[in-house]
Amino acid sequence: MDDLFGDTDPTLPERDELAPGAVLLRGRALAAQAELLRAVAAVAEAAPFRHMVTPGGFRMSAAMTNCGSAGWVTDRKGYRYAPADPESGRPWPAIPAVFLRLAADAAAEAGYPGFLPDACLVNRYAPGAKLSLHQDRDEADYDHPIVSVSLGLPATFQFGGPKRADPVRRIRLEHGDVVAWGGPSRLFHHGVLTLKDGDHPATGRARINLTLRKAL
Ligand code: SIN
Ligand code: FE2
Repeated sequence: MDDLFGDTDPTLPERDELAPGAVLLRGRALAAQAELLRAVAAVAEAAPFRHMVTPGGFRMSAAMTNCGSAGWVTDRKGYRYAPADPESGRPWPAIPAVFLRLAADAAAEAGYPGFLPDACLVNRYAPGAKLSLHQDRDEADYDHPIVSVSLGLPATFQFGGPKRADPVRRIRLEHGDVVAWGGPSRLFHHGVLTLKDGDHPATGRARINLTLRKAL
């Protein structure tokens, strides 16, 4: 039942090294998909998705929310981790156990044992939304990896290098794929190309991405 919506191409390897220290684990989240999606809905009920504004004044096309003891936010004042949801003033909901388990297991498989995230950014992309090439560098300590879980509509993920102008590899991320990067590629640039329209049995016309980090 839980594998009902597996979109993983069986001809592609289950494990793909995108860059040194960056590993794509295809279909790694499929077994937990129903539980993951229920947990996303619970998080979004406590802290609704919203479109944040960049310091430069641009509205982000992906809708975002967070769970964890810190949540990534952006507004005219800058990018940062905040202990409470600025929309409600309440602490972000706790990271669901199913997120923590998957993040720790996938990180360990990618070569990062003992990963215990305290922040999870939840991105929701509608068709047309994208995320420009960027580095995840608002965290206190770069010794911890990043774990990213993709659900719903497929997307083209870009994974580059330490410099913004470095060549990027483009990889299709499907429902249930997990990427973990750290060590030598912890600060590598990455982004998501404009989401193509589609209708996914698990999420409808949307892609959901969980980005788990140790922020504090
Ligand atoms: C991110 O870099 O925060 C999200 C990446 C993704 O949506 O795959
Ligand atoms: Fe990122």
